[in-house]
Formats: sequence, structure tokens, C-alpha cells
Amino acid sequence: MALFARATSIFIVSYKNYSKLILPTVKSKTWKNFPSKSTFFGHSILNVRFSHSDQTKKGEPETFVTFDNFLKERRDEAKRSILVQVNTENSLKDLHFYCSTFGEIKSMFYYVLSDNKSHHVLVEFEKVESVDAILKSATHIKLDQVIPVHSSMLYFRKLKAKHLHAPKLKFPVKYAKLPVKDKHFLEVLQNSKTAAQQVQKCYSILKLDDLGLRLRFQTAHQLERCFSGIFPDMEALPFGSSVNGFGKMGCDLDLYINFQSNRSENEESRLVFQTKRLHDNERHQCSDFVRIIGDLIEIFAPGIFNVTKILKARVPIVKFDHRITGVECDLSLSNMSAIYMSELLYIYGEIDWRVRPVIFTIRKWAQSQGITSGNPGGYITNFSLTLLIIFYLQQKKVLPTLLELRSKALLNDLRITDTNVDCTFLRDISMLRNIEPHGEDPYALLRGFFDYYAGFDFKVDAVCLRQGAVLRKKDSSPIYICNPLEPSLNVSRNVTYREMENFRTGCRDAAWRLENAEKRHFDNSWGIISLFVHKVRNTNPGLNVADVMREREPESEESDFILASK
Ligand code: GTP
Ligand code: MG
Repeated sequence: MALFARATSIFIVSYKNYSKLILPTVKSKTWKNFPSKSTFFGHSILNVRFSHSDQTKKGEPETFVTFDNFLKERRDEAKRSILVQVNTENSLKDLHFYCSTFGEIKSMFYYVLSDNKSHHVLVEFEKVESVDAILKSATHIKLDQVIPVHSSMLYFRKLKAKHLHAPKLKFPVKYAKLPVKDKHFLEVLQNSKTAAQQVQKCYSILKLDDLGLRLRFQTAHQLERCFSGIFPDMEALPFGSSVNGFGKMGCDLDLYINFQSNRSENEESRLVFQTKRLHDNERHQCSDFVRIIGDLIEIFAPGIFNVTKILKARVPIVKFDHRITGVECDLSLSNMSAIYMSELLYIYGEIDWRVRPVIFTIRKWAQSQGITSGNPGGYITNFSLTLLIIFYLQQKKVLPTLLELRSKALLNDLRITDTNVDCTFLRDISMLRNIEPHGEDPYALLRGFFDYYAGFDFKVDAVCLRQGAVLRKKDSSPIYICNPLEPSLNVSRNVTYREMENFRTGCRDAAWRLENAEKRHFDNSWGIISLFVHKVRNTNPGLNVADVMREREPESEESDFILASK
């Protein structure tokens, strides 16, 4: 059944119900040479001082959390949270005091958006009932001028009666992560002890932090609330780099909407909902739906602006900016296999501690060299690049092939989408994890990646992560990466010949730079620093690192976070 059917959830049993469905019959179907301001750290967002709350203590291995549980915990957290705009940081104590009267507060995060310098607080309660109570007590003002919608996005207005100010008690508040600016990034790399440590720093500095994740799930939750009247079971599920463990600060939010997560019919019920019929033309229905969602959120949803509908694409999407959470979002209806793809990437990132550091470093290198780009065109996407890296790590026996993961799958790992894509593979990889620092270090793996693809014969060979083997290409696409879940499809079919060459020469160049850097220990561009400085396509003469550091001062507002004034 149609795309629309998928969009509504006939479209597959949602991720959380899937684990319960184990019958095979179940189907649901520089710096001058660094990237430009706008692309270096992704979208412009916000602000302030540092909380390390999302970081684990050194040497303490994180326990493995399955993708389903990770999503569930984050979604629950969003349901227990509200997002409040305040005048300044000075309102925090008052806000804490006021919110406490509705229930126990678990955490508070404060951030300032760099675009409009607005101040916001994400308040997480212990219980969802506190959110219900506080939203019930909220009011609209200037009723003749506003559309009176309800949402968990609020303002905290000034108090009239002064004597009701909060008492002087301590209250917990976490501050948004300090942005990593070019200069700081470089300093951290220079101050590292080894090249392997530099690679790890790339990951720890650039990765999406706890607040970034919370704001993405809060954005998703707002959409669920928005449609809850007519679709009470609707789920807005993040996928892509926001949840697959490869997201950096400021990455976009890919969202998939599932209108009826609980799709089973209640045979006991005598009362049946009156409904309208689905169109016969599924594609038409799907793009109609996307268009209407776009219109509704543009008109009614607070914070959502710049709504663009791309309806004629294979997968129609709505793009928008969220001016309260600071997130850029791509919303689609029919994408269950993309969610399982995110889960697969999440699992690969969890299996070996070196995977994410290596991938972050290569993604950053590719961005700095113009190999990947936020702009449309025949560029290699981050997604394709990630698959190329995972494939290389399979060759190094750091990661298992998909067939190996499939062979270890248990009955409750069965997942088949409504379009018959078999997404079954082992979900609980706790027994496969390598958290011990042995074997090749991340830097050696990084070097190996450049060597591997500098010599790869893209003319005739395709990479296949399913088998973990090089296969013969099935067509003349410049780069052929078999989609691991749908092996007959080429994930990188849009990449042009020029971009493939750019990637290959970029790899050669990177291997050469690393080799040279090894000869010049501890000068300004030792270790992996040289990877980021000179831009392959840059027509300007390259800068050395010292130039870069001078040139970038003082820092501008390019980063996700700016420092809030105290
Ligand atoms: P960034 O947004 O660049 O940080 O990475 P991303 O992984 O989120 O990539 P993107 O936003 O372009 O795509 C989101 C997700 O959609 C990816 O993670 C994949 O799961 C899926 N996806 C993207 N491109 C393709 C494709 O060509 N084929 C398939 N099957 N899935 C894709
Ligand atoms: Mg994305």
C-alpha cells in the first residue's frame, strides 16, 4: 500500500513496537583555508558556558544502550521538558522557583541563540504530570493579536508583585557547551600528546552534545503535540546524524513522521472511527500530506520559520528553521528504512571505540577540503563518506560485515519494512564491543583510510558493506556504494566523476601530508593538523597555521554557541 499508507503507519510497526513483533509474517511493510563561516560548524545556533554532563569519566567504559532504548529515553526526556524563553540569565533563579511549584525539576539548561541573542531555558521535570500542570496554568497574552496555540514553548514574563521573588536558594543549571572555534580546535590539536589523541579530540570536541540532542528531541516533540488532537498516536522520530552517533554540533535534524504508531485493530471495540479514504495515488497523497504539514507548522507552530516544501522529490520533504531550538530540520513521511540505517550506523559506532573518532576526523577533513558540501550538487555526502569509512574498517577487521551481524540476529531483531526491505541484524551488540585500547590506534586507522582509497579502483569496483567485499560495479556510476540494506541500490549514485576524482586525489594528498607531518615532529602543523589547513580547491595561496591563528582572531559568531555575557 501506498506511500501514504507508509506515512500513516500502516507504515510499519514503529521501532518500539517492533521489538515485540517477532513473527516472520509481521510486515509493515583558517582560517582562510578552513571551510567558510557558514559551513564550518553547521548551522548557527547558540551559546554559553560549559557543562560536561554528557561526557563519561575517563577510563570508564560506557554501558551499551540499544538504539531503541536510546530513542525511548530521549523521547521520554522531551515529554518531561518545557522550553522557556527568558529575558536574561538573571531570570533563571526565578524561573526555577516558579517551575518548582509544579513539580520536582530534574535539570535546567540555559542557552543563548547566536542569531537573535534570545535567552532560553530547557527545564526537565521528574514527572510528565508536572509538564501537564504547568502547561494548564500557562496563558496567552494579547489575544486579539496571536493565534492561541498550545505548545511546550513558552515565555517567562516579568513579575508584577516584587515580594514574590525567589528566595536565595541554590538551584542547578547547566550551561550550553562552549563552541569549538577554529582557533580553539587547532590549539587543542596542537596541545595533544600524540596523533592518536588528536583524532580522539576531533570526536570529543565536535560531537553533538547532550543539550544539542535534547533540543532536537524537543523539536520532534513539539510536532507530536501539534498534531496530537487529530493523530494522538503520531510519532516524530529523529534519524540521520542526530541519532546515529556521527552528528556534530549544529548538524541538521532529519525527522520522520509516523501518524499512527499503534496500528493494530482492536477487535473488541464496537465503536469504529469515521474516517476518510486514502487516495489511490499514493505518491500524490504523500506529497499532499507533506504540503499540508508544511502549511500547518508554518502558520501555527511557534518557532518554526522559513518553511520550504520539496514535493516533487522521490521522498517529499519539508525543510524549516526552528528559531527557539536553533535546529534546521528536514521532515519526511516515508523513511523507515532510513531509520534502520541510522540504527545500523549507531551500532557500528558502538562496536569499536575508534570508529567515531576516525569518522569525525575524516568528515572534518572532507569538509575542509570541499569534498563534502552542504550545497546541492554531485558532492559525496557525509552519509556516503561514512559508509566508505565503515567499509574500510571492515577490511581492517575492526568492524563486522552486515552479513555477520545478520547471522547473529535473534528472533526479536527481525525488522521488515512495508516495502519489504529486510532490516534484520543483531541489535544488542554488547558482546561484540571492543572498548580495549589495543590494536591499531585511531591515527594508524586514519592513515590507512587515505592509503586505501587513494589506490581504490573506482572505475570497476564497488564497495559492499553487506558482504564486506569489493564487488564489480553494476553500472557506470563514478562511485558505487551498495546500500547495505537494499543491495541493489547505489547510495552514491548522484556523485559526479569530478567529485570522485576530487575525493581520490584528496586521499592521496592527505596521505602525503600525514607522511610529511610525521617527519616534522611538533611544528605548528604536526600530526593531523595539516589535514585541515590547505584547501584543495582554494585558489588563494595557503596559510600556515600561525597565519591562520592570527587571522581568525577575534572569533566571530560562526559557531553554534556564543559566550553569554554574565
Ligand atoms: P549530516 O546531516 O550531513 O550530518 O549526515 P546525515 O547522516 O544525517 O545525512 P543526511 O541528512 O543527508 O541523511 C539523513 C539520513 O538519511 C542518513 O543518515 C541515511 O540514513 C539516510 N540517507 C541519506 N542519503 C541516503 C541515500 O542516498 N540512500 C539511503 N538509503 N539513505 C540515505
Ligand atoms: Mg542529517
